Amino acid sequence: MENRREFLKIACVAATAAVLPKVASASHFAQGSVPPDQDDISTGGSLRAHATARNFLVGCAAIPQKFSTEPPYAGAVADQANILVAENAMKWAALRPAPDRFDFHAADELLAFTQAHGQKLRGHNLCWHESIPAWFAGTVNKDNARQFLTQHIQTVAGRYAGKIHSWDVVNEAVDTKSGRPDGLRKTPWLEFLGPSYLDLAYHTARQADPTALLTYNDYGIETDSADDAAKREQVLRLIQGFKKRGVPIDAIGVQSHLSATGPLPGRGLRDFVRELRRMNLQVFVTELDVNEQKLEGSEQECDAIVAKIYKNYASMMLAEPNVTALLTWGITDRYTWLNGPKLARLDGRPQRCLPLDANYRPTPVFFALRDAIDTRRKAT
Ligand code: XIL
Repeated sequence: MENRREFLKIACVAATAAVLPKVASASHFAQGSVPPDQDDISTGGSLRAHATARNFLVGCAAIPQKFSTEPPYAGAVADQANILVAENAMKWAALRPAPDRFDFHAADELLAFTQAHGQKLRGHNLCWHESIPAWFAGTVNKDNARQFLTQHIQTVAGRYAGKIHSWDVVNEAVDTKSGRPDGLRKTPWLEFLGPSYLDLAYHTARQADPTALLTYNDYGIETDSADDAAKREQVLRLIQGFKKRGVPIDAIGVQSHLSATGPLPGRGLRDFVRELRRMNLQVFVTELDVNEQKLEGSEQECDAIVAKIYKNYASMMLAEPNVTALLTWGITDRYTWLNGPKLARLDGRPQRCLPLDANYRPTPVFFALRDAIDTRRKAT
């Protein structure tokens, strides 16, 4: 096993740019689902190639700052994705160094990358209670909040108009524990503008970019737990309100930060997706990863569990025709946010939650995800 592992390591590092040599046995991949062409992960065997052949969008969150400094990173992101999203580069904190100044460097670099590689780009996000710049608290208030929100959306969505697949206009606006009957999260925007800040954000986004699919993105709506079921209900009510009031909404983003030891997604989410389909809404899996914080066992055992969760989840979602895109929250374990504070594995081992490991070798997650993509019918 160790020899094979070493071999794979060497072979797969080389594989980001070129096709791998044949590998004799696929037994390392506990899913038992590695097809004979598993050595080719960068061209015809890539997630991207498999998804594109099926008219499906697959991709990942990307860090544009790494494109020029780390060629294997750029190679992997180009090879594996036909759609990208900025992990942080399009958030307020990145775009707004000062109240009267925008910095589009990293965001523009990401757009240029997607255009050079024939990829779509998701916008994430225009309005969120996190990633708010330090100057915000002392500057934005009841009197000017409307102006700040609309100016931000006009400037950012306007700059990229016609070039964005979908915008997460508002991120994480629901909090069933807020104690409010409408289930809205207590955020600065809610405090300053009341619940109508949501309608305002979506109307402004539509005006600024009439072609991007306007998305509502949230987490904690995936599993069959009572908490997640309640939050799904609340999100559905929010969306029904949008529809009733003529607020432009095209899609729901299901973040999909799953836990290897927590409750799992199931019928509740599937029914939710179907309900959204009846409302003519698309669904995107926007930030998929699986946290193994409390998962015990050898690396190989943990890998198998994580891969199985990916396979079941992605297959369930891809079986629904209105699920049109799936993005993982990163491409390589090297840069996953899950190694950060409060999320890291309790035993100190690095997380293995993404299609490529820290050295750009495919993990069992890669093959699980590719198998799930293959369950979609090929485009003819
Ligand atoms: C995370 C990033 O991955 C981190 O790098 C950053 O420090 C905090 O934000 N839900 C979201 C994403 O919508 O924007 C978050 O991304 C993860 C949770």
